[in-house]
Amino acid sequence: MSKSGRIPHELIDQIRERADLVGIVGEMVQLKKAGREFKGLCPFHQEKTPSFYVIPAKGFYQCFGCSKSGDVFNFVMEQRGMDFVEAVEYVAGRTGIEIVREEGKEDPNRPLYEIVGFARSWFRERLLDEVDGAEARAYLEGRGIGMEVAERFGLGWAPDEWRALREAAQKHGLDEDLMLHLGLLKKSERSKEPYDGYRGRIIFPIESASGQTIAFGGRNLTGDIPKYINSPESDIYTKGQHLYGLSWAKNAIRKEDAVVLVEGYMDVVALAAAGFENVVAALGTALTSEQAERLAGYTKQPLLLFDSDSGGQKATFKGGDILLAAGMHPKVVTLPSGEDPDTLVRDQGAEALRELMSRPLDVLDRKIQLLEEANYFTTIDRKHAAVDKLMPTLEAVRDPARRDLYIGRVAEVTGVRRETLEGAIEESRTAARKTHSETGGGSFRRQQQSTVDRQRQSTHGSFERMGPEPTLLKVMLRGVSWVERAVEVGVGAEDFEDPYYRAIFEALLDEPDLREPPESMDPLARERFDEVLDPDEDLKHGSELFTDSVTRLRVRALVRREQELQAAIERTSDIEEKMRLLAEKSTVKSELLELDSTYGWGSVTHRGPTTS
Ligand code: UTP
Ligand code: MN
Repeated sequence: MSKSGRIPHELIDQIRERADLVGIVGEMVQLKKAGREFKGLCPFHQEKTPSFYVIPAKGFYQCFGCSKSGDVFNFVMEQRGMDFVEAVEYVAGRTGIEIVREEGKEDPNRPLYEIVGFARSWFRERLLDEVDGAEARAYLEGRGIGMEVAERFGLGWAPDEWRALREAAQKHGLDEDLMLHLGLLKKSERSKEPYDGYRGRIIFPIESASGQTIAFGGRNLTGDIPKYINSPESDIYTKGQHLYGLSWAKNAIRKEDAVVLVEGYMDVVALAAAGFENVVAALGTALTSEQAERLAGYTKQPLLLFDSDSGGQKATFKGGDILLAAGMHPKVVTLPSGEDPDTLVRDQGAEALRELMSRPLDVLDRKIQLLEEANYFTTIDRKHAAVDKLMPTLEAVRDPARRDLYIGRVAEVTGVRRETLEGAIEESRTAARKTHSETGGGSFRRQQQSTVDRQRQSTHGSFERMGPEPTLLKVMLRGVSWVERAVEVGVGAEDFEDPYYRAIFEALLDEPDLREPPESMDPLARERFDEVLDPDEDLKHGSELFTDSVTRLRVRALVRREQELQAAIERTSDIEEKMRLLAEKSTVKSELLELDSTYGWGSVTHRGPTTS
């Protein structure tokens, strides 16, 4: 069976029609015949009386409790954590239909996959090269990663040269615009000549769950900032949807009925080297609900194994809630301070880690423990604050039995009666439903604001109270590529309200690798510059901070434009002019709505002039 070419639509329809929907669903849900339909307990939500129906005549299922519905492919995707093509292959296999792909009709993304495949094997050859790869191989060996493990993960090496990959790709006649789109090449304002996006970096190919290479991460050997760079979003790679390591780990996850979640590439690879195979990483950003839903198709038992630093603790809080909301039962392993999983296995051995992993804490207990350590249960006020901090977790749990246990536990440690807690949960659910259904202008703005605040608070600690202007500058000062990205996504000096921040932004446009305020700069702007450039600051979530601040700048500009337009509409008596203004206002509004619905998925980074 050829993997290239696409599966014809007619064949997909045929597979859908011939599939034994009742049989395939029946493997995971106990079904009872009810007239011409079948019903059972819904696998998508917890219930005691069946409201999940399979309707074979129509080829779909529908739950009247949680309103999930779909066809056989949707069911397999959701319940078995497969992507669409995998689901089609799976169902075809059960149905006895052979998949014949159309060689002629190509997947429109085929050229992108080809380039990524070429790059991957080129990087690999560089790593294996006697001379070119020597330093990188020594580095990996030093971190306990032998060539056998490196090969398993397809690791590579991007030599520290400006145009090595570009020249190799040119010889193969690969399309330069597509390489730019994939971030394998870059272009700056000053040098129009594209140059290699990854230089002097160990390459980690990122694969989809089915094993297709879709992006790359790259680590430099020095640990300088930025330590890792990652592919931008592209037509074949959407951030927040994939998990690093899943294609390698999925069988082990199913077999052990547990998944270990770590923070980084190195943790995945180092743990695999130490014999832990059911390990994945969220790829540099906070865990998203899409990632959690995907994992939930494999197991309900995630083990969080994050760094013990404050970033790791925040990730535990936030990630735990997201996993609970996906119906999972997360547990947390706490590492000794200063260690991450990779350093721990290297210094103390796999057994030491296995020991820690054998006695994890339930995520709620871990949260309570962290609050205890921060003296949250001392005074009335502090206890009240603790309840506020634990509330999102109580709201997140999908499993009713577990929610019951959780409420009891929180009541116990805070002394707040469980009825009060239950009331508060109900209230906030109702409120959430309300905001969700309102889409009018005014309320939307409030909603946007609160989404942004929530995200910021939960993931970025010290950036909590910082506006989008300094946040964006902080990220831009971290590396030239961020300056380029800011320009690419269309940030302009006019987006900065504060004249001093604006001056810093303009200075960076002139000189992207500026690391000291220029003499000619206004003294107040120079002061700001020093504030923004704090080399010790942990900017681990750079791309998230970037997206977050760019989104906030854009929302702010749009909201302002909307107000201007409204004022102009009220002022003018010319009917044609009024119509024109109204039309523009509605464009602005829909852009705001779109930002709202896609916010958090990195969409704004996608709409710059580079979108080829
Ligand atoms: P860490 O800084 O904890 O790195 O970032 P690490 O995984 O322990 O890497 P080593 O051990 O020093 O090699 C955790 C994850 O955050 C993302 C990467 O996905 C990384 O694996 N990250 C970090 C970036 O994307 N960019 C950065 O500059 C730093
Ligand atoms: Mn590490």
